[in-house]
Amino acid sequence: MTIIVTGGAGFIGSNFVYYMLEKYSNYRIVCIDCLTYAGNLSTLEKAFLNPNFKFYKTDICDREAIYKIFEAEKPNIVVNLAAESHVDRSIDNPEVFLKTNILGTQVLMDACLKYGIERYHQVSTDEVYGDLPLDKKDLLFTEKTSLKPSSPYSASKASADLLVLAYNRTYGLPVTISRCSNNYGPYQFPEKLIPLMILNALNEKALPVYGKGENIRDWLYVEDHCKAIDLIIHKGTAGEIYNVGGHNEIANIDIVKLICKRLEKSEKLITYVADRKGHDLRYAIDPTKIHKELGWLPQTKFADGIEKTITWYLENRKWWEAIISGEYQNHYEKIYENR
Ligand code: NAD
Ligand code: TYD
Repeated sequence: MTIIVTGGAGFIGSNFVYYMLEKYSNYRIVCIDCLTYAGNLSTLEKAFLNPNFKFYKTDICDREAIYKIFEAEKPNIVVNLAAESHVDRSIDNPEVFLKTNILGTQVLMDACLKYGIERYHQVSTDEVYGDLPLDKKDLLFTEKTSLKPSSPYSASKASADLLVLAYNRTYGLPVTISRCSNNYGPYQFPEKLIPLMILNALNEKALPVYGKGENIRDWLYVEDHCKAIDLIIHKGTAGEIYNVGGHNEIANIDIVKLICKRLEKSEKLITYVADRKGHDLRYAIDPTKIHKELGWLPQTKFADGIEKTITWYLENRKWWEAIISGEYQNHYEKIYENR
């Protein structure tokens, strides 16, 4: 079995690479990643020690190069995690989001059609559904909820999802899609809420909370997401969409306060800044389908997952210090100055 994992040098992709290498000693995992600012080879350091792992530094939009890899590797399954993934960056500059997230998906699916595949899996997001009101707790996203993306990022992911379903209907490509809620865990790039707040708190820097901090996300430990993808690619039905989430809704401000407490930092570091444009209020996933059909349930409680995550950042300073010394500074100034 050979599985191509795109975006494997990023947050979820690298966790998925490690999960699969550990679980299936007879699988080859071939990673394709062009190493944008969010992709880091040091993240895959331990994977390179495994003879079942192979890495290609390639852009998923590069059709010729992608076809060559498919020809050489003959994958059985493709899991597409390569993407531009940060909402704030998409508001600042949408173009690369459309290119990678939509056209890159098309190139990968064309390669699957050309060389044959057992399964193409698209890792999508709950953000394609738009948002839910803060005060109607009974409302959740199901797979049937209509698509109503708010940001250029989520619009690009929704577009890709539609293209994936069209390739299934028109060409019979055996596809599946997972739409997951917010992930947290090791190797997450510190532009996202949880690692950004951990690192800023450790460095005694201001903790920039957008708006009033009342926006709600449905947090899932990354390993639980990896387990869901593993189940879907092996047991999920082609043509189907699976929502993945942990019934774990938390307001941003509560997460930031929890991080302050755990790191013994003053809440005075919390700074309320101008809200994100088009800021989604609340995400909440109904995971009934994946639970009933594939037996998936999240296994990591938030209290344990956040403890593991904070400990990981405390123990892996080298990893994130290298990151925040580079291009990250420009990003930080652009997103947060005058806010
Ligand atoms: P990430 O930004 O940490 O990693 C993305 C990876 O893709 C990086 O390694 C980057 O180098 C690579 N990449 C980007 N453009 C590429 C291109 N053109 N060609 C090849 N590689 C490219 O993202 P993540 O948080 O790990 O998210 C992975 C996927 O999961 C994305 O599709 C995202 O939409 C989805 N998702 C993320 C979350 C979350 O909470 N992080 C939740 C649900 C879904
Ligand atoms: P983020 O981690 O960017 O994920 P997403 O926007 O895809 O859900 O943000 C999570 C929440 O945290 C979101 O409501 C925006 C908020 N947020 C802040 O308040 N401050 C920050 O500095 C960041 C990065 C996010």
